[in-house]
Amino acid sequence: MSALIIAIDGPSAAGKSTLAKRLAKDLGFTYLDTGAMYRALALKVLSEGTDISTEAALPELINRTEIDLVETGGQPKVLLDGKDVSDKIRTPEVSQMASKTSALKVVRHWMLGLQRALGQRGNVVAEGRDIGTVVFPAAEVKIYLNASVEERARRRVDELRKAGRQVSLDETLREMGERDKRDSERDLAPLRKADDAVAIDSTALDAEALARRVMQEIRKKPLVN
Ligand code: DC
Repeated sequence: MSALIIAIDGPSAAGKSTLAKRLAKDLGFTYLDTGAMYRALALKVLSEGTDISTEAALPELINRTEIDLVETGGQPKVLLDGKDVSDKIRTPEVSQMASKTSALKVVRHWMLGLQRALGQRGNVVAEGRDIGTVVFPAAEVKIYLNASVEERARRRVDELRKAGRQVSLDETLREMGERDKRDSERDLAPLRKADDAVAIDSTALDAEALARRVMQEIRKKPLVN
């Protein structure tokens, strides 16, 4: 039997990561956080001060960059050139840079290959912006997760404050709006719901209720029980 793929797409802070991690754990699937991969590259771009106003510098940068997703002690980790950067990539600066670099053709092309290769590791729950439309268009289950912009901003602020960062709701709302607009309006693999994805609004759902709702969709598939 070939591997099963559950694709979860949607805008920032819609609840994709919490949901995808939980499903992966409950089902024993591999968790594939494609946003973390774009973030890892963005971290390197920021730390090297790479000029991304054109794509010229990127092929060389990509050539000497290794990104991998692993699990250590039950926790998903992203490795950049062999180093764990899982915490470092969760800053507002990296979010914005990931959104900018992910619009570039050379970056998307590279990531597509990497992500499809990771998909070969077996059954996966993959989250991102273009999983159901581009990376795994034949995924068995596709979810398009959204929530009101206020709720998403509130969640992002909570998450950042828990990580010890002082951020304002207004600033977070502004940055999130900017990023979602860029991610949705770019030419290549923009954020959009796949025609065959199930749209779910998580505004009024807690993690438990959301997971139950998505499990209903998964159980409709004969191969996933
Ligand atoms: O999901 P995230 O917020 O960690 O993603 C960071 C950025 O990476 C997001 O603003 C757009 C980009 N991204 C993408 O273009 N395609 C994906 N499949 C995942 C993320």
